[in-house]
Amino acid sequence: MIEQSYSATRAAARVALVTCAELPELDPDDQSLVPALAAAGITAVPAVWDDPAVDWSAFDLAVVRNTWDYPKRRSEFTAWAGSVPQLANAADVIAWNTDKRYLRQLADAGIPIVPTTWIEPGDPVHLDTGDTAAAEIVVKPAVSVGSVDTGRYRLPEQAGLATAHIERLQAAGRLVMVQPYLADVDTAGETALLFIAGRYSHAIRKGAILTGPDEGVETLYQEETITPRTPSPAEHALAERVLAALPFDRASLLYARVDLLPAASGDPVVIEVELTEPSLFLTTAADAPDRLAAAIADRLPAPRAEHPGSA
Ligand SMILES: Nc1ncnc2c1ncn2[C@@H]1O[C@H](COP(=O)(O)OP(=O)(O)O)[C@@H](O)[C@H]1O
Ligand SMILES: [Mg+2]
Repeated sequence: MIEQSYSATRAAARVALVTCAELPELDPDDQSLVPALAAAGITAVPAVWDDPAVDWSAFDLAVVRNTWDYPKRRSEFTAWAGSVPQLANAADVIAWNTDKRYLRQLADAGIPIVPTTWIEPGDPVHLDTGDTAAAEIVVKPAVSVGSVDTGRYRLPEQAGLATAHIERLQAAGRLVMVQPYLADVDTAGETALLFIAGRYSHAIRKGAILTGPDEGVETLYQEETITPRTPSPAEHALAERVLAALPFDRASLLYARVDLLPAASGDPVVIEVELTEPSLFLTTAADAPDRLAAAIADRLPAPRAEHPGSA
């Protein structure tokens, strides 16, 4: 449950934890922030990003958390971000990070990313079905959350299904990404490294998600299997390089998540960098909710009134 003690904290800072209409009470993992913020004298209130009744100027800070319904209306979302007076992460970060074209910029800076072919809405589709070994590919949109609209295809048998998926995304005006399926994810999983205020906090292993072609199911996200993980030195070093290569001061980022897959060589490569609405897996690391609450407290614009009621 969300703790809301308006009367006891009238003088305390108020922070919005920004979510979507389908999760008005926040994702359970992010609900762990509410008591952590309360312990710091901060009242946290869930707020739905596209709810016209919310007065964003009434909050000292709005923290983006579970806004997982924006991929089909990204421009509305980035315009909303630009309209919120105090937002973390900031609107320019969100504009940059909600379209995976940023991966090209990171690749140009020397960061290894999953090899990607980009297909614009008007481009002809020529899948390289390979005339030697069979291959597996992933088709996904460049504006994406939660593995929605993402599919895995065996070539050449499923080339028709893959092409249909690409054309479906193109018809919706979406930039398409085609990648080799990095099959080591099936055993090693994906590694996500979490940073709070630019400093490494914790990491998790995410099990492989894709089982086959996209079935066009309208969900907010696909189920994930998450366990704590200690990243390898190579993973840790790559995530640090990513933070250093971002076009933002890393300390200015309230949160950052770097997601890595193992390439066939065994070396980690970047699948995505999440600065917008990442699950932070706060409940997988004992101190993570308190660390994030402290970083939020640091960002509050004005000194806060005393709050004699808090322990
Ligand atoms: N090239 C790939 N190889 C293996 N698995 C992939 C690949 N691309 C995506 N996936 C799987 O699909 C999931 C979602 O893809 P991702 O690029 O992270 O998009 P989203 O932004 O929707 O999370 C990943 O967590 C991973 O399990
Ligand atoms: Mg992902």
